[in-house]
Amino acid sequence: MRQHVNPLSNNFHNVEIIPSLQEIFEDPTLPLHIDIGSAAGDFLFQLASQNKNWNYLGIEIREKLVKNAKLKMKNKEIQNLYFSFGNANNIFHNSHCQFLLSKLSSITFNFPDPWFKKKHFKRRIIQPDLINLLSKKIKKGTIIFIKTDVKDLFDYMDHTILENLNFKKLEKKYFNYSKSFNPSKIKTNREKYAITNQLYVFEELYTRV
Ligand SMILES: C[S@@+](CC[C@H](N)C(=O)[O-])C[C@H]1O[C@@H](n2cnc3c(N)ncnc32)[C@H](O)[C@@H]1O
Repeated sequence: MRQHVNPLSNNFHNVEIIPSLQEIFEDPTLPLHIDIGSAAGDFLFQLASQNKNWNYLGIEIREKLVKNAKLKMKNKEIQNLYFSFGNANNIFHNSHCQFLLSKLSSITFNFPDPWFKKKHFKRRIIQPDLINLLSKKIKKGTIIFIKTDVKDLFDYMDHTILENLNFKKLEKKYFNYSKSFNPSKIKTNREKYAITNQLYVFEELYTRV
C-alpha cells in the first residue's frame, strides 16, 4: 500500500459527505473526538471500545485503510465509532461537513506526514487556512492535540496554531487526561514506534479561547 499520497491531488477534491451524528452514532449527544490521519484505525478502535462515553470519528486519506477499518467495524458491536475517507482539509471546508466542527470537543493530529521538503510544506495537514476555519467554527474550550517526532514539523504546527489569536496553549502538566477523549493515554502506532526507537515525541495542547 502507498505510504504517502499527495493530499493536494485532484483525486481528493470531491469529498464523501459525512452523515449526521444521529445517523452514525448510537448516542449523538456524547462528546465528539476527531482523529486526523487515523490510518488503519487501531488507535480509535481501542479508544472507542474503552470509552463508551465518547464518540470517535477518524478521517484518513488512504482509501484502502478506511475501507478495511469499515469492514472491521462490521464484525464488532461498536456504536461510537465512524471512519471517513478523504483529505481532512477538504472535508472540513465542505459546507455539508462543517456541522462536525461545531459539535467537536477535541481533535488530534497525531504524527502527521512531515513532508520534509520546503516546496511540499503546503501538503502538511495543519495550514493557516485550516486553523482559521477551526477558529471560526469550533466551540470555545475545544482542544487541539498535536504530536510528532519531527522537530521541524512540530515548530511549524505550533507556530501556525499560535499565529491565530483565538488559540492558546494549555499547560500539559495541569491537564486532566482522565476527563479527556483518551483517559488511559492509549498510544498510536507511530507513537509506539517512536518510543521503541527512542525518538523524542513533541506534543502540545491548545484550546479555543
Ligand atoms: C504518519 S501517519 C500517522 C498515523 C497515526 N496517526 C499514528 O499516529 O500512528 C499519517 C497518516 O495521516 C494520513 N494523512 C495524511 N494527510 C492527510 C490528510 N490531509 N487528511 C487525512 N489523512 C491524512 C496518512 O495517510 C497517514 O495514514
